Amino acid sequence: MSVPKNFLWGGATAANQCEGGYREGGRGLANVDLMPSGPDRYLVGSGQKKMEAFDDRHFYPAQKAVDMFHHYKEDIALFAQMGFKVYRLSVAWTRIFPNGDEEEPNEAGLAFYEDLFRECQKHQIQPLVTICHFDCPMHLVKTIGGWRSRKMIDQYVKLAKTLFTRYKGLVRYWLTFNEINMILHFPFVAAGLCFEEGEDPTQVMITAAHYELVASSLVTKLAHEIDPENQVGCMMAAGAYYPETCRPEDYWKAICDDRSSYMFIDVQSWGYYPNYALKWVEKQGAKIPFEAGDQALLRENTVDFISFSYYSSRVSSADPEKGGQSQSNLFASAENPYLKSSDWGWAIDPLGLRITMNALYDRYRKPLFIVENGLGAADQLQADGSIQDDYRIDYLREHIRAMIDAMEQDGVELLGYTTWGCIDLISNGTGEMKKRYGFIYVDRDDQGNGSFRRIPKKSFYWYKKVIASNGADLD
Ligand code: BG6
Repeated sequence: MSVPKNFLWGGATAANQCEGGYREGGRGLANVDLMPSGPDRYLVGSGQKKMEAFDDRHFYPAQKAVDMFHHYKEDIALFAQMGFKVYRLSVAWTRIFPNGDEEEPNEAGLAFYEDLFRECQKHQIQPLVTICHFDCPMHLVKTIGGWRSRKMIDQYVKLAKTLFTRYKGLVRYWLTFNEINMILHFPFVAAGLCFEEGEDPTQVMITAAHYELVASSLVTKLAHEIDPENQVGCMMAAGAYYPETCRPEDYWKAICDDRSSYMFIDVQSWGYYPNYALKWVEKQGAKIPFEAGDQALLRENTVDFISFSYYSSRVSSADPEKGGQSQSNLFASAENPYLKSSDWGWAIDPLGLRITMNALYDRYRKPLFIVENGLGAADQLQADGSIQDDYRIDYLREHIRAMIDAMEQDGVELLGYTTWGCIDLISNGTGEMKKRYGFIYVDRDDQGNGSFRRIPKKSFYWYKKVIASNGADLD
């Protein structure tokens, strides 16, 4: 098997990191709008510090982001120039339901995405839509505590139903929740969770995860009923854990660390919580809030494909002193002395992508979709107006090679590959603009200043060649 002819090459973004226009078209406020840049970002994102309204001591980069709200036609035309077959994006929940609990959707929000999808169609680009990429209406955070409440399920299902109905025929590929395992790492961002004093955060996260899993099954069912052409995927922040040494304790730790991410996808793909997950919950002194019918629902509505993000592999050590020295995408890891790292300390491991793909394919036997991969770097605009991002080309080349090896040599079925932040956008982890991932440079700095002008980087022309040759020309 080599790269199939209909392979979906493209790029990915998320509404809150690129759209801006946070108050336009009747849009409501979401948790992600209230994520400040600077040292408080992690505290707010992890639910340790409440941020329910803007204050003038912080800067909130998502308010403007890279203003794709006003530039989407130009941006999609640039994606088309690169030859994109697919564009992964997310809808901002609060454009469609500003508070989350309205009965009727906001027409201006629906019209915005309809126009955007038609623009994609005009350029023969398939949209791949993440229904929820880290956003939760603030009104629902304040009134019901986000995903800690079972009431969220109805609100989410209403959103999804509205999308499936309105965009029938325009969108075929859907993801229910971005990086569902991020609940355990960045719970305010992933599920609108803020912890109260004295409560057990683990129980709250397990509860929220269960409600998201039930919601994911319900909308998978609905997507198939509304249009049998719909394909629904789950989405995991992936990256295999390696044991730090061949000590059995390290290997066992690596298995347990992998399982802490797999357990969500196991439910979405297999249709039930595996025994190790049930035992883990029990060991936490927690409970999964099952209600009548949940188990049958999960069992009967599994996903069609498995999507994931991959930035790096991780390292597990049984030594409690180790394990937090390196951070990659909010996952603590021990250092890997065999790998180089990005400027933000994320290990660079192309073979790790092949290893991860094989692990996922062996486990689930369903087609995979790589929906995020890329290098965050501080690109410099040269005096001649160019951006020479050879380091990004190197990173992507090696990862694409590894991905093709997994297909050609190991027989892994892969539907497509969308690089993360195909146009520069706001970093989720740090809120910085200077951590850039794109093929397209956006003139904006960390304080929100700039012309928002779009400039293709050197990697833009390189990726165009990669797509045109269906992965054969990686030079
Ligand atoms: C993934 C998210 O976790 O990693 C994206 O789905 C995020 O939203 C990406 O932007 C890269 O992380 P960061 O922190 O560099 O933006």
